[in-house]
Amino acid sequence: MTTKSESEILTRVGPGTPMGELFRQYWIPAAKSSELAAGGDPVRLMLLGERLIGFRSPGGRVGIMDHRCPHRCASLFFGRNEKAGLRCVYHGWQYDPDGACVDMPNVPPEQDFKHKVSAKAYKTFERNGLVWVFMGDQENIPPEPLLECTLLGEDEHRLMFAQRECNYLQALEGDIDTSHFGFLHAGAITLDQIDEDHPSRFTIADRQPGYHVSDTGWGTMYAAFRDGDPGRTYWRTAQFLFPFWTMPPDGLFDDHIIARAWVPMDDTHTMFIHISWTGNTQGLRTGRDGKPLPGLAVGMEHLPNTTDWFGRWRLAAHAGNDYRIDREAQRTDSYTGITGIHLQDQAVTESMGGVADHHLEHLAPSDRMITQTRRRLINAAKAWRDTGEIPPACREPEVVLGARSGDFQGPAGQGWREAYDDRMAASVNPTGRLIQRAAAE
Ligand code: FES
Ligand SMILES: [Fe+2]
Repeated sequence: MTTKSESEILTRVGPGTPMGELFRQYWIPAAKSSELAAGGDPVRLMLLGERLIGFRSPGGRVGIMDHRCPHRCASLFFGRNEKAGLRCVYHGWQYDPDGACVDMPNVPPEQDFKHKVSAKAYKTFERNGLVWVFMGDQENIPPEPLLECTLLGEDEHRLMFAQRECNYLQALEGDIDTSHFGFLHAGAITLDQIDEDHPSRFTIADRQPGYHVSDTGWGTMYAAFRDGDPGRTYWRTAQFLFPFWTMPPDGLFDDHIIARAWVPMDDTHTMFIHISWTGNTQGLRTGRDGKPLPGLAVGMEHLPNTTDWFGRWRLAAHAGNDYRIDREAQRTDSYTGITGIHLQDQAVTESMGGVADHHLEHLAPSDRMITQTRRRLINAAKAWRDTGEIPPACREPEVVLGARSGDFQGPAGQGWREAYDDRMAASVNPTGRLIQRAAAE
């Protein structure tokens, strides 16, 4: 059971909160590179409860800084994006992408003190279409993160954003709560609708798997297990990675290069960022006739972005229109009547409220991965706050290259970690960076 005080630690992400401070020790994906055009409009970015402005100078440098001008706190959202930096329109002070004040034109030269003024700017870097920001101590920058899918070239991965109106934790936990797949997403699918070798056949045949859960260097990991083909065990593994990443079991393990960030915008809004390899095997959502299985159509419709703090990457189906639920389809065809795995997840996690009331829950043995992940987050936040213990995988980013998720079969009777290592050794490795432990030994 998660107590009220534990829930507070887990879900509050603003400056000065234990979890907010833990998250500030990591590089955070902030925006698509394409959102920040060279010399283009400044963009309002809400991250960890901070109102920030992102912009790209005409020369191509990205800046992310507090939206308040250090002169008299007018918003830099209205600023002019000029060659030397962002110029506040109130009195004309100008800041380069590092935050240094480079012009103070409303005072005479002898009174100019621009070299003593700087906007609160955060370090950034870009890789493969994603802008990252570090919001912790700017004098102590960690190495850049190394999740496998973020090392793929820009044309080798899919990158998708979608905003969710709830706390990051309940959104993230949907990716590590394996037993819901057989209900929310596949509850109306029967074995006669899929091929004999369909990867989800064991999940559909047995909706009550057993679980193993373990702490890892990057966070936590589980393996759900069921009987597979004769003499085989069917494994479904997934990962939680600090600070708020998951690798869900949404495909075949061997080439399932994927990661999903649940980036807290504030306590009740989250930016979902999905990154996956274009070479992944597809087909989990397809039935015998080659068409999407009931309720599992791929794709999501976005509303146009606005300049609001919460105006980026919203979905057209949302709480205000009941996610376009089709009750007739729910009666006859799909389990939910809501179309698409992402939207089904969105509906149930947002329906818990802005921040779920964790003390009302009754967690089951099927929720062990959730329980253990919460414990790991709380312990890491307290350790950082109380003793300054370096958070997991923060300064050794290569640790995460030992993580993969997905479905596979192994010999019946084999231990789960051995089965995992064997499968890693046999998996494709397009970046050449995956740690394939068994192969290396
Ligand atoms: S408030 Fe920005 S220049 Fe005065
Ligand atoms: Fe789901």
